[in-house]
Amino acid sequence: MTAPTGSLPFLPWNRPSIGGEEAAEVLDTLRSGWLTAGPKAAAFEQAVTEALGVEDAFAVSSCTAALHLALLAVGIQPGDEVITPSFTFCAAPNAIVQSGATPVFAEIDPVTFNLDPTTAERAITSRTRAIMVMHYGGQPCDLAAFRRLADSRGLVLIEDAAHALHAWRDGARAGSVGDLSVFSFYANKVITTGEGGMLAGRGDLVQRARLLGRHGIDSSVWQRHGTRSTADYEVTVPGLKYTMPDITAAVGLRQWQKLPDFTAARARIAASYSRSLAGLPGLRLPTVLDGIRHGWFLYPVLIDPTAGRSRDVVAEALREVHGIGTSVHFKPVHRLAAYRQVECHLPVTEHVAARQLSLPCYPAMTAGDVQRVIDALHALWS
Ligand SMILES: Cc1ncc(COP(=O)(O)O)c(C=O)c1O
Repeated sequence: MTAPTGSLPFLPWNRPSIGGEEAAEVLDTLRSGWLTAGPKAAAFEQAVTEALGVEDAFAVSSCTAALHLALLAVGIQPGDEVITPSFTFCAAPNAIVQSGATPVFAEIDPVTFNLDPTTAERAITSRTRAIMVMHYGGQPCDLAAFRRLADSRGLVLIEDAAHALHAWRDGARAGSVGDLSVFSFYANKVITTGEGGMLAGRGDLVQRARLLGRHGIDSSVWQRHGTRSTADYEVTVPGLKYTMPDITAAVGLRQWQKLPDFTAARARIAASYSRSLAGLPGLRLPTVLDGIRHGWFLYPVLIDPTAGRSRDVVAEALREVHGIGTSVHFKPVHRLAAYRQVECHLPVTEHVAARQLSLPCYPAMTAGDVQRVIDALHALWS
């Protein structure tokens, strides 16, 4: 195929926005002599705690680590069941399995692609201990309904807010409603530290997670530094090592300050797409419910058979002919090899997953980049 874009460089599906501020903060850390979890990780935790209005937060090495710690901290054990969507990243079900429990996949809402509270309720059994919701693409799920459901059935509510760092539903910020919430700062996320995550929520649970996430040691090395021997510690529980080093937290602190601007830039791109792509036959654009402030991690479209071309054909043409990257969120977890034995009937998940495509939507895009995506889709549909 020939490229009508001529010599235009490849436009990736995602690219981080890292500036001089992050570089200066990292340099400051490198020169400080304190590289592992210390004052910068603590400052990052403080910033997130205050912004969310939760009791505590713990900076960790990834969102996957935060998910694992969340499940361990609430006491999930072998034999327990945790309800989760299949239409998510494998990290959540993997963490459930690694904590010894069984993931139970419940159906998503066909409009938002978030876990549906009604189907989640139907999936509750005597073994259910927790519900792990996810805010698909940055649009918060029905947090009030899930909070009510968890409270009425004595379950723990965990929010996987990897996509929703700066998003609200009916005034409640994503990540502030669950007993525990997790965030991702992976390279393609709304803000990034390369790899990194945050666990936030109830003070007693975060404290337990903090203990479990630093080997089960009763104090941090930063707390011991200069006041007592670094070897003066006790291991009170067999833990893991999931802490975020200060080199990483230095990037996170500066990225966190940029989060509102990054989200505003994403929202502007989403608005351009929604304005300019409306009406293309078979192309379903995202629906934002009333009361939502969307985080726009993703701009997810569905490509229906009535479009006359499949999702995979569109993705290939965008890449090969127009030099534009896209992504798919997600392959349903119950279709992945490790999970094919899980019994479930998820027609909405299957329907959406076969059609979904994520268009580039990130602050490093120029107005020209956005127009290029719009023009390419119009050209494909013409
Ligand atoms: C919904 C969701 N949860 C969790 C994760 C895992 O995040 P991390 O790579 O920081 O472990 C991802 C990563 O893409 C994700 O999309």
